[in-house]
Amino acid sequence: MTANLTIPHTDFEQQPNSPHSIELVGVRKSFGSGNILDGIDLTFVHNAITTVLGPSGTGKSVLLKHIVGLLEPDEGEVRVFGSDIWGVSEHERYELRKRFGVLFQDGALFGSMNIYDNVAFPLRKHTNLSEVEIRDIVMSHLSEVGLEAAVDKAPNEISGGMRKRAGFARALVMRPDVVLFDEPDSGLDPVRTKLLGRLIQKVHRQHGGTYIVITHDIPTAREVSDHVAVLWKGQIVHAGSAEETFASDDPFVRQFLAGAADGPLGMD
Ligand SMILES: Nc1ncnc2c1ncn2[C@@H]1O[C@H](COP(=O)(O)OP(=O)(O)O)[C@@H](O)[C@H]1O
Ligand SMILES: [Mg+2]
Repeated sequence: MTANLTIPHTDFEQQPNSPHSIELVGVRKSFGSGNILDGIDLTFVHNAITTVLGPSGTGKSVLLKHIVGLLEPDEGEVRVFGSDIWGVSEHERYELRKRFGVLFQDGALFGSMNIYDNVAFPLRKHTNLSEVEIRDIVMSHLSEVGLEAAVDKAPNEISGGMRKRAGFARALVMRPDVVLFDEPDSGLDPVRTKLLGRLIQKVHRQHGGTYIVITHDIPTAREVSDHVAVLWKGQIVHAGSAEETFASDDPFVRQFLAGAADGPLGMD
């Protein structure tokens, strides 16, 4: 990926010497009287895809916002490549955030910009690259996600699946060490969900890094995961390799993975 070599890196050239790129330690968060995150302990392995599985409304998006430093925990720490993201200066936190690429649920594209300008946006905002250099990077990622032909389209002129792929391309242009996907399957039919899962794996094999996929969709988790963590009632109730998780005889994990109505998992 020669185009990417032209991006000047910030103070964080060093590679992580721990296999864990991100560590959450005792993270708690409440909104009003609701305890959303209730002591989250979770580590993410570098150069692997980890899925965080949990039912709707359990706090998956809230967890994602803690990982990328958009929400501050009431208690506990989020360590990103060894730095406590709320223990560093505002400037350092800003620099740490540049190591993340996020694909938000709806792609979060700017409706007034075409696909090309959406994908170019982070490079124009955060680098001094020339438009010629930007073009190389943008087109290489748009081609990676199969969208070269859609550069001139507005977000509302393309399908939901294409918008997600455009969001994915935009998440990649800053050469992130960590890429997060919030419910990449939402709004897609099963075939497009599967294709997007394959694309996530293909791109991960190409670039490496920590990939975090947040979803309630079991087929997606089966398709993409090296590791799986299960979020339930504000805590991580299971974390392990995908193989181990899908073979687990823990009644809770089995019920959750089977989507079964009977078992320890209740409605509330
Ligand atoms: N900024 C916020 N202020 C108040 N409540 C919030 C905020 N963000 C999320 N919540 C609440 O936290 C809970 C979990 O939300 P969310 O993380 O979006 O769930 P999930 O992504 O798992 O579906 C919900 O009850 C939601 O209403
Ligand atoms: Mg969510």
